[in-house]
Amino acid sequence: MQLERTLTSPLPVATVFQYLAQFHRVVEWDASVTRARKLSAGPIAVGTQFEVDVDFLGQTTRLVYSVLEFDPCARLVLRGIANRYQVIDTIHFESTPSGGTALRYQLTVEYAAPLNRIAAIFAPLVQRNVDAAIAGLTRTLNDSPQKVEPYPLWRDKFILPGALEFTRWGFRNSKKHWKGLSLDLRGQTILITGASSGLGRAATLALAEMGADVIAVVRDQAKGAQLQQDVQDYCGATLQLEYADLSSLTQTVALAQRLRNRDQPLQVLVNNAGALFNTRQLTAEGLEKSFALLLASPFALTELLLPLLRKNDSARVINVVSGGMYTQAVHPHDLNYEQETYDGPKAYARAKRGLVDMTRWWAQQPENRHVIFHAMHPGWADTQAVADSLPGFYRSMQRWLRTPEQGADTIVWLAAAREPLHHNGEFWLDRRPHTTAILPGTESSAETRAELQRHLDRLLQSFLHG
Ligand SMILES: NC(=O)c1ccc[n+]([C@@H]2O[C@H](COP(=O)([O-])OP(=O)(O)OC[C@H]3O[C@@H](n4cnc5c(N)ncnc54)[C@H](OP(=O)(O)O)[C@@H]3O)[C@@H](O)[C@H]2O)c1
Repeated sequence: MQLERTLTSPLPVATVFQYLAQFHRVVEWDASVTRARKLSAGPIAVGTQFEVDVDFLGQTTRLVYSVLEFDPCARLVLRGIANRYQVIDTIHFESTPSGGTALRYQLTVEYAAPLNRIAAIFAPLVQRNVDAAIAGLTRTLNDSPQKVEPYPLWRDKFILPGALEFTRWGFRNSKKHWKGLSLDLRGQTILITGASSGLGRAATLALAEMGADVIAVVRDQAKGAQLQQDVQDYCGATLQLEYADLSSLTQTVALAQRLRNRDQPLQVLVNNAGALFNTRQLTAEGLEKSFALLLASPFALTELLLPLLRKNDSARVINVVSGGMYTQAVHPHDLNYEQETYDGPKAYARAKRGLVDMTRWWAQQPENRHVIFHAMHPGWADTQAVADSLPGFYRSMQRWLRTPEQGADTIVWLAAAREPLHHNGEFWLDRRPHTTAILPGTESSAETRAELQRHLDRLLQSFLHG
């Protein structure tokens, strides 16, 4: 069976070729693909392999694709082998006079016996899937921004549909409406904390693959070296590594000062590092650890890097928070959790609520007009933090948890896409703004946010000036 489709894109041929050669990103534009990953280490070339799971008639089939021909900006040929069939994707690329790209996509499917005898029955369904995939690719390679619709308030307010969105199912459901990120981030410097595992690692790989210069902040030398190797294997890029224990304000301030001394431009800051502490711990600086790591440190890092971020026409700060923050109000008079019996999830939720409040506060300051602030919530993703700190939840929910890549998707989108530049101070899940309050008494007033900012600033000043 053979099919041929053509499409044009306003994007330059080099960008389009690079995007399609990263064939594991087929998951972004072909709705029948549920999962895809690159199997081979290093930059993409002849022989690079990808594993692609395709859903067809309710059955998942795994294909292993190999690059057969790799002729940059001209021709790309891939062969995918499954148990009972193989597909050959041949893609021709040509520059158009307007600087865009014309694509010719040829697909050949060869069935093994006995499937070949009944292949004609599947033909209309295969064609429909191919047409849907080509429509998805056309959207992805289109330059125009997608409309962003706020998530309906009533759905957030009803806990059950709201919470279902946090799962793997919620991600797949939301993803149907997106276009892929065919972006070239060369020339963009993105700093991401907590890059050594989970969401931070997934975002680091994705952003480095799109060409960004990623400054990865980790706290452990061996994990830093492993991350560097992983990024090299994944896309051939090199990271800038910085080391800091971000539960220490002294180390956070020193990190910011090192970055400011370099005077390297910085376009995006992602405050992602985090953990949930089930027992109350004090840092060497006398701060309760959830507060130190989840609020005081990202506050300090953001404040101290704002002078660098403000040097750009448009810069972005992304604060990774949690849906858990819906359960708590901020307690500006007890940031160190001294006035009540300690409860780990509550301490975590209060600190995350505080970072949501600061996101909105920063967004409203006139001196930050060229910087955009986003808070985001990854849903429930299968990461070390969840396995370690919420073992019961992890065991019962494991099959519903998102992959780290799915959890990190909105971090990557907020850091890279054009659409979020038109929003400021909002709280995102799956590329849509959500309400920040569901339960009565949890939303902070403007006065509370200002009060919280004063407390955090006083603390920061005490570290800066003794
Ligand atoms: N996974 C979810 O379902 C979920 C849901 C809501 C919010 N979040 C948030 O998502 C963010 C990422 O978490 P994750 O789920 O990806 O967990 P993870 O895999 O455990 O990653 C957490 C990252 O933060 C780093 N980190 C922890 N404590 C640190 C410290 N004191 N100094 C410097 N770095 C530190 C970790 O470094 P090490 O590797 O050295 O430990 C790791 O890189 C966190 O802010 C978390 O609260 C996650």
